[in-house]
Amino acid sequence: MSDDEQLRVSKIPRGTVIDHITGGEAMHVLSILGIEGGDGDTVSIVMNAPSDRLGTKDIVKVEDRELSQAELDVLSLIAPAATINIIRDFEVVEKDRVSRPEEVAGVLSCPNRNCITTGNEPVESRFDVLAEGVRCAYCGTIVRDDIADLID
Ligand code: CTP
Ligand code: ZN
Repeated sequence: MSDDEQLRVSKIPRGTVIDHITGGEAMHVLSILGIEGGDGDTVSIVMNAPSDRLGTKDIVKVEDRELSQAELDVLSLIAPAATINIIRDFEVVEKDRVSRPEEVAGVLSCPNRNCITTGNEPVESRFDVLAEGVRCAYCGTIVRDDIADLID
């Protein structure tokens, strides 16, 4: 971590730091985590910070919270280079890369209004992950570029 970054936002005592997010995607990351600001979560966000590896990167620090596998799966689609740092007592106790899953369930909603997953039926959404995008497992609708728009 550079001194420069240290000046931008301070270390957190406990929680999760999502680092190396594709520059500009931080707001989508907040959507994936269901963070809207009204629930009292303590969250720090850095947008478009200079990064050797990525050009620019975003960072999201969520205090007192860990991410579910479903959240990590969707995160990997919009921020494939993200690292997940688990923080306890101000120390990084675990660091993982996200990995692209074969399917994502529950977090994205199908853009097809006639899809069984978007009606009143209690059917959880499920998408197969393709090389370039995702495909609804129920109706076959393929979404390539706007995956973040499918986040509930
Ligand atoms: N971090 C934090 N609070 C802490 C510890 C770390 O906010 N108590 C943040 C750092 O600012 C950094 C990320 O968590 O954005 C990872 O920390 P660290 O592993 O110390 O940094 P690097 O070695 O630069 O990570 P990497 O090698 O993954 O780039
Ligand atoms: Zn569908």
